[in-house]
Amino acid sequence: MDASETLVDALMRQFPFDVSTEEFVQDPYRFFEQVRRTSGPVHRTRSGDVVVLGYFEAMAVLSDPRFGHGAQTAQEQTNYGVPARTFLLTDPPGHTCQRARVRRAFTAREVLRLRVKINELTATLVQAAARAGRADIVADVARPLSATVIADLIGVPEHLRDRFAQAAALLVRAMDPPQLIDAETRERIARARVSLARDINVALRHPSDTGLLRAMAHGSADHTARAETVATCAQLVAAGYETTVGLIANGMHALLQHRDQLAQLAATGPSEKAATAAVEELLRFDPPIQLAPRSALVDADIAGTPVPRGTVVSVLLGAANRDPRAFPQPHLLRFDRQTRHLAFGLGTHYCLGAALARLEATAALRHLLTHSPRLLEPRILYSPARVARSVQSLHVHLNAP
Ligand code: HEM
Repeated sequence: MDASETLVDALMRQFPFDVSTEEFVQDPYRFFEQVRRTSGPVHRTRSGDVVVLGYFEAMAVLSDPRFGHGAQTAQEQTNYGVPARTFLLTDPPGHTCQRARVRRAFTAREVLRLRVKINELTATLVQAAARAGRADIVADVARPLSATVIADLIGVPEHLRDRFAQAAALLVRAMDPPQLIDAETRERIARARVSLARDINVALRHPSDTGLLRAMAHGSADHTARAETVATCAQLVAAGYETTVGLIANGMHALLQHRDQLAQLAATGPSEKAATAAVEELLRFDPPIQLAPRSALVDADIAGTPVPRGTVVSVLLGAANRDPRAFPQPHLLRFDRQTRHLAFGLGTHYCLGAALARLEATAALRHLLTHSPRLLEPRILYSPARVARSVQSLHVHLNAP
C-alpha cells in the first residue's frame, strides 16, 4: 500500500467488496450475492487478482495442482499465524510427507478415543448450563469443549489448556488481510505465537501419555525435526480451536433463527443420524473458514478465464457454499441436501480435523437441543476476523435437566 492509497483502495485491489466494514463482517453473503450477479462465478479485481465465488470453479481450483502456495514463506504469503512454514502452506511433494507424518499420529483409534471424551465432556458442560437455566453457548460450551479436545489431541498438560486457547483465538486474526490488523493486535499476535511455540517446546519434553506430541516426540530428535513438530502442533491449535468454536456457535445461531428446522430436528431426539446430517448443512450455511488462499504456480485458467502465473486466487468457501447452481435456494437451511459443501476445503489440503470437528458439533447439537434452547439476545454479533467467521456470544435460555 503506498502513502496516497487508502485502506479501502488497498483492500479493493484484492476483493470486489469492502471487507473492512462492519456490514461485511455481519453478513458477507449479501456481498457475495451482489458480485455473483454482476461478475458470475469468477471475478477479476482491478489489480488482476482473481476471486472465486462459484462452487464448481472453487472445486476446480482446489483440486488443480497448477494452483498452490508457491515458493514464498508462509508468513509472507498469507500470515497464517504459525511460527514457521507448515504443510498448510506447502505444495507437494514437501506437503505430502509432512501431512503423512501428522496423519500417522492422527489415527482412527485416536479419534475414537476422543469420541468418548467428547460425549462425556459435552454432557457435563451442557448439564451445568441447563442447571443454571441459561448459557452463553460460545463461552460455556463451545470454547471449553474445543480447547479441551485440541489440547488432548496434541497431548498438552492440563494447566496449559487455557493459554493455548487464548493464543489460538488470536492466531486466527493473522489470517486476515494485514491492512485490517491494527498495531496493537499485531503485537499481541506476535506474543501469542512466541508463547505457543515455547509452551509446545516444553510439552514436547514432557508429553502426556496420549496424543500427537508423544507420537511425534520420537521423530523430533534433531533441531530441525523439533522445530517442524512445534510448528505443526501450533498449526493444529491455530487451525482447530477457533474453527470448531465457530462451527458450534454459527451452527446453533443458524438453527435458532430457523425455528421450524430446529423443531423438526429436536423431534427426532435428535438422533445421531439427524444431527450428523444437520451439522453438514450448518457447515455449508455459515462456514467457520471463509477463504482458501492460492496462487497460480504456472499460467492456468479457471473455467476458461485465463489466470497468468503468479496471480493471487482467493477461493471464497462461504460464497461457493451458497452457489445456487449447486445448492438450490442456497439461503435456506435444508437438512436434505445431497451436494457436498466445501467448508473443509478439498483436495491436497482437505482439513485433517474434519472428523473431530464433526463429532464435537454433533455432540453439542444433540445435548443442547434436549434442553429446548431459546435465544435471549435480539442481535447476534460476529467477531471482527474476516477469514475465520465466528459468532462472538450466543446467550440462550435452557430448560432444566
Ligand atoms: C469446523 C471446524 C473446521 C473447519 C471449518 C476447518 C476448515 C479447514 C479448511 C477450509 C482447510 C483447508 C484450507 C485450504 O485449503 O487452504 C483446513 C485445513 C486444515 N485443518 Fe481444518 N477446519 C476445522 C477444524 C480443524 C481441526 C479440529 C483441526 C485439527 C485438530 C484442523 C486441522 C487442519 C489442518 C492440519 C489443515 C491443513 C491440512 C493440509 O494442509 O494438508 N482443522 N481446515
